[in-house]
Amino acid sequence: MNLTIISGSHRNNSQSTRVSHIMKKRVEELALFDEVNVLDLADNPLPLWDESIWEGSEEWRTLLAPWRATLKASDAFIVVTPEWGGMVPAALKNFFLIFGAIQLGHKPAMITSISSSIGGTYPVQELRSSSYKNNRICYIPEHLIIRNVESLMTGEKPEEDEYYSARIDYNLNLLNEYSKALKLVRDSGVVDHKTWSNGM
Ligand SMILES: Cc1cc2nc3c(=O)[nH]c(=O)nc-3n(C[C@H](O)[C@H](O)[C@H](O)COP(=O)(O)O)c2cc1C
Repeated sequence: MNLTIISGSHRNNSQSTRVSHIMKKRVEELALFDEVNVLDLADNPLPLWDESIWEGSEEWRTLLAPWRATLKASDAFIVVTPEWGGMVPAALKNFFLIFGAIQLGHKPAMITSISSSIGGTYPVQELRSSSYKNNRICYIPEHLIIRNVESLMTGEKPEEDEYYSARIDYNLNLLNEYSKALKLVRDSGVVDHKTWSNGM
């Protein structure tokens, strides 16, 4: 079972990248998945979606090949998103336009929303309401909202670190169980994206 962590900030040296690597390390310590990768949207490695992607452009195909391979081989995802202007960053919405059900469909994902202050709720709602329709990613009911992220795991606030560590471990263990359960769904033969290519 493989896990991919998508770091949704396109800012360099972002907190999303830092949190993504904290979680990668923890997943490895808990030995929950065979392989853990971080796909980082820092510096906008994916251009904005355009029509030629549907026309099978060679340029897109070459650029996306390694991303598609990693995502397709994943059984679960963590989507780390900062709150920007009460929203998910544009690069993350672009990610969900570019990748579809072949890579993400019927696989569990745990949202981790972060804020340098007391925000973080809006991106959870945005992802849950508008990022899954055609790609069929399955957000698990538990998510994380990490507030005052800049002090997380820095030793500044040991009590908060203890709380978040316990909560992160709980969510990671749960995500691992969902990854086993949803593999049964994908292997069932019922999933039919040839007939029903888009969600309603
Ligand atoms: C363009 C921009 C907009 C932001 N808007 C919000 C916001 O609406 N709510 C909030 O809590 N924090 C906001 N912040 C602060 C972020 O929570 C903080 O920068 C956090 O570290 C962002 O994560 P990142 O480092 O992964 O980009 C904003 C930051 C940026 C760069």
